[in-house]
Amino acid sequence: MVRPGLSAYATSVANSALLQNHAFKQAPGMFPSLNRWIALYGHGCQLEVSPRMCAVSGIHYPNDPAGGGGSPLLRRAWYAVAKLEDVSSNLHPVTVHGENILIYRTAQGQVRAVGRNCPHRGCDLSLGAVTGEVLVCPFHGWQFDAEGQCVHIPANQHGQRIPKRARLRTYPVTVRGGLVWVCTGGNLNAASLPPLDIQEELDHPNFHKRVFSLVWNAHFIRSVESSLDVSHLPFVHPDTTGRDVSPVVQGPEYHVEGNRLRIHPRPFAPAHPMEPPRPTDAESDERVHIELRFPNHWMIRAPVAGDAMMCTYVTYTPIDDAHTLIFGVVMRNFADDSEFLDSHHLEHTLRVLGEDQRIIESIRPLVAPFDLHMEAHVPSDGPTVRYRKMLREACHKERLEGWV
Ligand code: FES
Ligand SMILES: [Fe+2]
Repeated sequence: MVRPGLSAYATSVANSALLQNHAFKQAPGMFPSLNRWIALYGHGCQLEVSPRMCAVSGIHYPNDPAGGGGSPLLRRAWYAVAKLEDVSSNLHPVTVHGENILIYRTAQGQVRAVGRNCPHRGCDLSLGAVTGEVLVCPFHGWQFDAEGQCVHIPANQHGQRIPKRARLRTYPVTVRGGLVWVCTGGNLNAASLPPLDIQEELDHPNFHKRVFSLVWNAHFIRSVESSLDVSHLPFVHPDTTGRDVSPVVQGPEYHVEGNRLRIHPRPFAPAHPMEPPRPTDAESDERVHIELRFPNHWMIRAPVAGDAMMCTYVTYTPIDDAHTLIFGVVMRNFADDSEFLDSHHLEHTLRVLGEDQRIIESIRPLVAPFDLHMEAHVPSDGPTVRYRKMLREACHKERLEGWV
């Protein structure tokens, strides 16, 4: 029953009486996904209770990981899904937590987010069209209003009713900082929506902005944690943000206030090519800091001179367990007509992220284990360990409160 090439751990899992008696017999289709399950979770989670529950963390995986989007992550949170400029009346398909979502704009300019598969026969609505205020399925022409309700079925004769199930799931959607955001938790209404707490500079009219996006073949947690990890700088970024940075980490000094995790790395190389040389005195060493607003809004602020400031913002969206969508905004509150600064800042940021990407995509298991005993940690990992604890607690809380 056990396939050649599986590790000892995988062999013991595959041989377990529970799997053979329950999972394989009741759902034989699960077995081909076992290799992938192990690649995702590795030894970070002992499979003892059911294929969808981690006996170590006690967290249930709501979906089959082999189908994507199975790891325990916050659902009741805002995730960026598109640049606003990319959402016209054209249909913009996205995937978050393995859920297929369609973003579109109605004729009146409303941005909407709905489930992407038609409730009739499951056709992908991104192949359809927006006509005025309705979304039209390309298969049989059913029409859905902005609330996801089917309002017209062409094949129905006059007076025939529209089935109750003929409606699309709608997602809370908003536009901030030049990005379109959706909230993916279940049973959400206006009162239960979490705040979208992005850094103020993103909405500030004095900041000139350039937006970019990337996809990494990496898990959300690994991706976010890379932005909080200061000890990798001299190794991964020897010619950019890690240039002249000592491998010995002082601290790093960091603190958490509410949902904000701030890191004050020192010493710290210039965060941007326009930044002045590295400070030598303790006071000015504070001027560059990293701020993560939990769970996915990362910003580095680098004062240039006086009130002049350059900022780099990055936010992470879990497509599924193996892919993370990244949106970034490079911005400054001076020289807003300088194309040189635009491209310089953007190129620098993309270069640094590219240096991270090849390392982060190599990490196995893909999903960072919530059980901290599954990996080795040292003091310089303080911010990443703290982040993982925050995420673990938030995920437990939202499950206890029934948001997923
Ligand atoms: S599948 Fe959409 S209308 Fe039939
Ligand atoms: Fe990095």
